[in-house]
Amino acid sequence: MASKLPNMMEALVGDRSTLARLANYGLGKSSGNGVKVKSIPIPPISENEVLVRVDCVALNPTDFKHVDILSPRGAIIGCDFSGTVAKVGSQAAKKWAVGDRIAGMVHGGLYPDRGSFAQFLKTNGDLAWKIPPGVSDEDATTFGVSAITAMLALNTRLDVPWLAENANQGQGRKDTPILIYSGATAAGIYSIQLAKLAGLNVVATASPRSFDLVKSYGADEVFDYRDQAAVDQIIRAYPSLDRAMDCFSEGSSTEFCAKCVRKNQGKVVTLLDSGKTTMDGAQIEFILGYTVFGSEFQWLPPFGPKFQKIPSDNEALRRFYSTLPDIVTQLRPPPLKIIDPGLKNLATGLEMLRQGQVSGTNANGD
Ligand SMILES: NC(=O)c1ccc[n+]([C@@H]2O[C@H](COP(=O)([O-])OP(=O)(O)OC[C@H]3O[C@@H](n4cnc5c(N)ncnc54)[C@H](OP(=O)(O)O)[C@@H]3O)[C@@H](O)[C@H]2O)c1
Repeated sequence: MASKLPNMMEALVGDRSTLARLANYGLGKSSGNGVKVKSIPIPPISENEVLVRVDCVALNPTDFKHVDILSPRGAIIGCDFSGTVAKVGSQAAKKWAVGDRIAGMVHGGLYPDRGSFAQFLKTNGDLAWKIPPGVSDEDATTFGVSAITAMLALNTRLDVPWLAENANQGQGRKDTPILIYSGATAAGIYSIQLAKLAGLNVVATASPRSFDLVKSYGADEVFDYRDQAAVDQIIRAYPSLDRAMDCFSEGSSTEFCAKCVRKNQGKVVTLLDSGKTTMDGAQIEFILGYTVFGSEFQWLPPFGPKFQKIPSDNEALRRFYSTLPDIVTQLRPPPLKIIDPGLKNLATGLEMLRQGQVSGTNANGD
């Protein structure tokens, strides 16, 4: 029998004023960790939602960026989670039962009742996946922000065939290679695998320290993104290259990608917004993983950018998570850096990410 749930829970919440966050944005740096552990009510769930007892979380750069700039005071931080279903809404009961192992991503960092760095979280039952036996809680958490971003970029924007679908269905293209810029990022590691498993030739860039790592996930060839000759070498070796995913999206990374695909009027997907839609004759498209939730949202209201619903992105997440239990064993999570358990220690993990001390790994906390 399910044990009675408490009314209150502990959560790691944003603790910066609007003024402090605007100053961080303007100065490009922050001081202090900007979070605190707070006791708050366990959120009620709607008929399509489940309440999850959080067992494990993964940390992503977006989490500290939210804390520093975007998160209103009191917003629960954190997106990626794995856990156990503790309560089920009437409609969600078609798929979920109390005690099921569950994982996914929620829109953390923006709302006072939604986020994964908490003892419990609520999520739409269709936007989460069942963890099969044999997949650890830690590994399961990595199929949130980074895997979803890879799926969104490759399967919905760059015409890479979906996994778990019969190649004869004719969806997607395998005829030209793909460039994964900064393949050692968590998003890059999943992108390499999704492209390789779909049958594409995968070209990646990385630091020499990460060459072996990137190759171990399936990259056919890796170039040093700091090497001045790399663009010309890629163009010569892959003359039909017409698509790229820029997993770094800072400095000159998008320009690098655009140069590699421009001859074929190709496309580059970026993960940070440069404000450009074309560059050097290449098409540039910025994507944001948070569009998978099917809701509008705004950063730094009332003046900040508004993001409209993209129903096809929401559909893509439902599709990805409904097939993930069948394909999860084909995908290898990024190497994990496990941090000490407890909400307080997540602040340390966020600081490590903020200081760029995590390379080629996902930080996880139980
Ligand atoms: N738009 C979205 O929805 C979305 C989703 C996910 C992530 N992001 C953003 O994408 C970026 C990457 O996130 P992530 O979690 O995948 O990253 P991550 O795993 O934290 O990335 C770490 C890697 O970045 C690489 N790196 C460091 N400096 C670099 C440079 N100057 N040029 C190229 N690569 C460099 C390093 O690879 P080497 O060892 O090869 O140097 C390092 O291993 C972040 O800015 C994040 O906020 C956006």
